[in-house]
Amino acid sequence: MTTIVEKHKKLERNVTLLGIAAFAAVTVGGIVEIAPLFWIDNTIEKVDGMRPYTPLEQAGRDIYVREGCYVCHSQMIRPFRDEVERYGHYSLAAESMYDHPFQWGSKRTGPDLARVGNRYSDEWHVQHLKDPRAVVPESIMPTYAHLAEHDLNPGDMTAELRTLYQVGVPYSKTDIEKANEDLKTQADPNADASDLLKRYPKAQARDFDGDPTRLTEMDALVAYLQMLGTLVDVNAPAAQEKLAKEKGR
Ligand code: HEC
Repeated sequence: MTTIVEKHKKLERNVTLLGIAAFAAVTVGGIVEIAPLFWIDNTIEKVDGMRPYTPLEQAGRDIYVREGCYVCHSQMIRPFRDEVERYGHYSLAAESMYDHPFQWGSKRTGPDLARVGNRYSDEWHVQHLKDPRAVVPESIMPTYAHLAEHDLNPGDMTAELRTLYQVGVPYSKTDIEKANEDLKTQADPNADASDLLKRYPKAQARDFDGDPTRLTEMDALVAYLQMLGTLVDVNAPAAQEKLAKEKGR
């Protein structure tokens, strides 16, 4: 009878046999790692309040990406005490489930922005983006004054929302059809935004850049910043319990 050592010796000395065995081992390992990804939708915990971005928020997000804000800012609060105390409740996976591309990361020349929404006034954001030193004297953030001068010209939001729908963002047919209209409605103080608010709960509809006569890139970017982290009620009892545990560590 051959012992296991002898069997292994045989395997090690036969290239073909060893190749087949190695392939089998790697295949099993690969399947174990890859297979769950096909069911990733089920692995993200559901949270109340998450919804896709409104067309104006999405346009603002596109400007955020275009301008490279992510080079200095992350949008992911990690579950560490110092981060939670500084930025608020740690980020939940579901809060970035509709992000294409996501804005996680750890490169923080500036602070994390995952929950910056509603923390400052629109005026503060506009002033800060036009001239960061005007409100934070020691700031090294670049100026983005040009955003207030450029009319918002995002292209066809219907096409953009349709594309996002195709990669899994659950926009409704109406959302897609009305995208270009919604874009203007959200920043127009004279428009009736009730239908928009019904389809996009917690959306903030107003003029954002201080100039109601124009729809600028500044309007879109500030609309985006003001909604960051505002959709999910992290003060709900379940979330609070988690947070308390986190703090008690
Ligand atoms: C070169 C790095 C850099 C880039 C690029 C940058 N920022 Fe900043 N940002 C900072 C720094 C540093 C601060 C902290 C000082 C301050 O408030 O200005 C900051 C602060 C902020 C704050 C205030 C956050 C808070 O909690 O107080 C916001 C909002 C912000 N940035 C938005 C943006 C947006 C939007 C863009 C892109 C248009 C951008 N930043 C690009 C470095 C950067």
